Amino acid sequence: MSEASSKPMSGPSSGPNGGPNGEPNGEPDSASPLRVRIAPSGLAFAAEPTQSILEAALRAGIRLPSSCRNGTCRACLCRLASGSIRYRVEWPGLSPDEKDEGYLLPCVACAQSDLDIIAPGARRQD
Ligand code: FES
Repeated sequence: MSEASSKPMSGPSSGPNGGPNGEPNGEPDSASPLRVRIAPSGLAFAAEPTQSILEAALRAGIRLPSSCRNGTCRACLCRLASGSIRYRVEWPGLSPDEKDEGYLLPCVACAQSDLDIIAPGARRQD
């Protein structure tokens, strides 16, 4: 059998954040940024668990659609394909159904694991 399973706390990590395949390792680690990948563009950037996904993207030179940046206008609405987030605000402008369907407001959401998001409007800043 293969030895592809993760080995917690057994020697140096082979990746910047957990498993060799970029799998989230369960808890946010403030010392190592999380990785956010964007479909369909294939763009990717690092994010700290304390900064919004939108802020992290901008810092990496990636522009996501946005306007209010406080979770009300929904201009930044995109979709979470995998990973976990937490919101900075108690009532982000999403219905419970939208949350269940994976919709996400990156201006007020912080990554808590590596993420895959679907944001067709994402592009690299010139
Ligand atoms: S920019 Fe307005 S809700 Fe995100």
